[in-house]
Amino acid sequence: MGGKSPRRVVKVDLGERGYDILVGPGSLGPEAGRRIGRLGDRGLIVTNAAVDRLYGDRLRDGLKAAGVEAETLRIGDGEKYKTMAAVGKIHDRLVARRFDRRGMVIALGGGVTGDIAGFAAASYMRGVRFVQAPTTLLAQVDSSVGGKTGVNHPKGKNLIGAFHQPSLVVADTGTLSTLPKDEVLCGVAEVVKYGLIADRAFFGWLEKEIGALTALDAATVVKAVTTSCRIKAAVVGRDEREAGERAILNFGHTVGHAVEALTGYRAWKHGQAVAIGMRAAAELSRIKGGLTDGEVGRTIRLLEEANLPARLPKGLSDQALIKAMGHDKKALGATIRFVLLDGIGKAAISGDVTRDEIKEALARSRG
Ligand code: NAD
Ligand code: GLY
Repeated sequence: MGGKSPRRVVKVDLGERGYDILVGPGSLGPEAGRRIGRLGDRGLIVTNAAVDRLYGDRLRDGLKAAGVEAETLRIGDGEKYKTMAAVGKIHDRLVARRFDRRGMVIALGGGVTGDIAGFAAASYMRGVRFVQAPTTLLAQVDSSVGGKTGVNHPKGKNLIGAFHQPSLVVADTGTLSTLPKDEVLCGVAEVVKYGLIADRAFFGWLEKEIGALTALDAATVVKAVTTSCRIKAAVVGRDEREAGERAILNFGHTVGHAVEALTGYRAWKHGQAVAIGMRAAAELSRIKGGLTDGEVGRTIRLLEEANLPARLPKGLSDQALIKAMGHDKKALGATIRFVLLDGIGKAAISGDVTRDEIKEALARSRG
């Protein structure tokens, strides 16, 4: 694809908690200001220093033009700052400036900023309005949509949190031009995930357009973000609080989280670990009869063409991986639940996986 890159609006259908996701280059300026202005006239922008320098003025100018009074609070940059201390800092500012329940919290940045600011908004005065302005591909296709907010506990990732839907998401795809390449690829891994779990035609489109997507061709990115958000919005619309179906969004995350935990969250970024996990889940799906050899081959090829890792790193034993999977938040009791594929584009959750089948999938994923 090339040429024009129209802006799009995706609707998240959650009744009175429903909201719009604006997707397109340039949406962070006056358009964001006007839309946010309809929600309230006072906001606290939560961001970090790097993103503030790049995009803070654009958002502030849009808000000012729309008559929204806004101030900015910078928090730390990186997963290690995703703590209750950061949430406390936001609460302190809201209290000090006497924000009432009509005030808004506006998150400008990646998933770390969005998760922290969202939880602060969920808990301040039992919940104030919250706007997401995601500036990483991962945040635009995943973390800014669906209302999961929260922070890490010393004993585990994302253990403290709340469901709190944003009132608006502004995904300015133009901001991705400054994103480091490996961060772009982490988002691409989640985009591939949506094709695999929910949309065979989208997967086929990705096979053709993966080069344009990783090169951030404007129209290709808009289509990828819009389609990903539509898929996530549909799943969340049917199962907001993860009573069942929403867990399919964790495809690739069971082995992915184990790889991250065993490598101390240093060797791989989250999206790269998820890519490895998707390979393993595809292998397990083949063993269970859900995917053909050809479909597993297509999955591996697409990951590799996206410059994502599609092989389990050597040195991680089956025993260590299986133990780490058992500690995954999504593991229920003694069984390890997997999201498996029943053909490309159709996911299902299975608890019916033996230890031997897992070992076989891990062995195949090393090759
Ligand atoms: P991140 O927020 O750490 O951002 C990655 C880096 O990119 C940071 O250094 C950031 O400052 C920088 N950055 C952001 N936008 C930029 C831009 N446009 N140009 C240049 N640099 C930019 O990481 P992430 O991948 O966006 O988010 C990961 C977090 O998201 C994790 O904490 C994860 O748990 C969470 N998450 C949440 C959900 C959810 O549903 N709430 C879903 C998936 C992931
Ligand atoms: N990232 C998984 C979810 O939002 O449910």
